Amino acid sequence: MGMSERVTAAYTVRQASTQTMIGESCLMQDLRTLIWRVARTRFTVLVEGESGVGKELVAREIHACSHRRGGAFVAVNCAAIVESLLEAELFGIEEHTATGVRGRPGKFELADGGTLFMDEIGDLSPAAQAKLLRVLQESTVERVGAISGRLIDTRIVAATNRSLHEMVRTGRFRPDLYYRLAGVEVVVPPLRDRREDIPLLVDHFLARHPAAAGLTIGAGVYETLLTYDWPGNVRELSRVIERAIALATGPVVTLEDLPDRLRRRCGDLARTMPSGCATLRSWSARYVRLVLQRCGGNRTRACELLDISYHTLRGYLDEAAASRLPDEPPRPALVAAGAEPP
Ligand SMILES: Nc1ncnc2c1ncn2[C@@H]1O[C@H](COP(=O)(O)OP(=O)(O)OP(=O)(O)O)[C@@H](O)[C@H]1O
Ligand SMILES: [Mg+2]
Repeated sequence: MGMSERVTAAYTVRQASTQTMIGESCLMQDLRTLIWRVARTRFTVLVEGESGVGKELVAREIHACSHRRGGAFVAVNCAAIVESLLEAELFGIEEHTATGVRGRPGKFELADGGTLFMDEIGDLSPAAQAKLLRVLQESTVERVGAISGRLIDTRIVAATNRSLHEMVRTGRFRPDLYYRLAGVEVVVPPLRDRREDIPLLVDHFLARHPAAAGLTIGAGVYETLLTYDWPGNVRELSRVIERAIALATGPVVTLEDLPDRLRRRCGDLARTMPSGCATLRSWSARYVRLVLQRCGGNRTRACELLDISYHTLRGYLDEAAASRLPDEPPRPALVAAGAEPP
């Protein structure tokens, strides 16, 4: 069985159980393969990526594809726990440690046999980093006030939107803990690097919204969504779609239903383009070229993804080359007639 078949098999098994991870871009396919591979190992995983790219979703997928899927997936946000409560939160507390204290398990124990997702791991204080390191080294947690530890079998998947490597370099994160956590690093690419997933995500967000039944996307909306840079990534896109659904007055989502920042951006782009370039066809040509880049230049794959013929693909590529679209300087041989010689 080839890798892709095995990936598909693993995905069918758990489809109903978790939120679906949408995306057919080459980057997302690579990400799926990596998730599938690491899920089966015992490695601690460090998920990195900008805000809103889907790090938590990736962590859930790793859990769902692993042999631990029958166990709990417990999430803890390291940035949100008050330092003084952190130990009790993570490791638990023994009954009667202080007057009136009820004993309870910590997140590590709750995730025994499953996965503990430690979000914003870069926000742990030096003291908390030292305690976490000990737990990871010994696979044992000691509740606050306990005389002995309990052996646990919890897999850690940590996430951060800062560069932990950089934090290690500048002395803000323990190198020994970093190397323990980063058994495998999974980097989730920003949405602007996989724009071909945008239409799929839009469909997904529309489909899951009850108020969007029968709603269609109007002229220019996809083009605007495709050219915006999405600093807030998939989360920002989902909010923009939710907002558009709420604002739409008829059966069609129009440009007016998008926030100003997106429309401004489109306007800026149009201004930077040579005259005559801001047509739907020229934007499509640009999109086609982008998809091809993401497919590593594999034209057959690009045709499949775009659902167009080889001949149509060629037409778009010739157009993209001739119209000197932004982002990529034209190759000298393809500069349109009348342009200055290089
Ligand atoms: N590939 C995807 N398919 C469908 N939904 C997605 C995808 N990626 C992200 N989302 C959705 O976008 C939102 C943000 O994702 P998530 O919380 O996993 O991001 P994050 O990287 O953890 O963000 P932050 O850095 O802000 O914590 C969620 O609602 C999630 O379901
Ligand atoms: Mg998150």
